[in-house]
Amino acid sequence: MRETLSQHIIDEEGILLKFLIDKIGKEASEPYIKILQDHLKIMKLVEQSVESTYTGWTETENDLNTLKETLAEHHKQEEDVLYPKVISLL
Ligand SMILES: [Fe+2]
Repeated sequence: MRETLSQHIIDEEGILLKFLIDKIGKEASEPYIKILQDHLKIMKLVEQSVESTYTGWTETENDLNTLKETLAEHHKQEEDVLYPKVISLL
C-alpha cells in the first residue's frame, strides 16, 4: 500500500500541482494545494495503522476508521474539486 500511495502522491503533486501552478499561479492554486496536503496526513495514518497492529486491535480499529474517513474525504475533494479544475485548464 505504501508504494501505491507514494506513486499516487508523486503523480498528483509532481504532475497535477505543477500543471496548476504553471497555468494559474501559486496563489490561485492554494485551494488545490490544501487538498494535496492531505497526502501527508494519509501517509501518517497508514504508518500509524501498521504500527498499531502491534499494540492491539482496539487501537488498530480506531486508526483504520480515521484512515477510511480521511481517504473518503480526500477522494471526494479530488473528484469534485481538483480533477474538474485540471480538466477545465486542458
Ligand atoms: Fe490524492
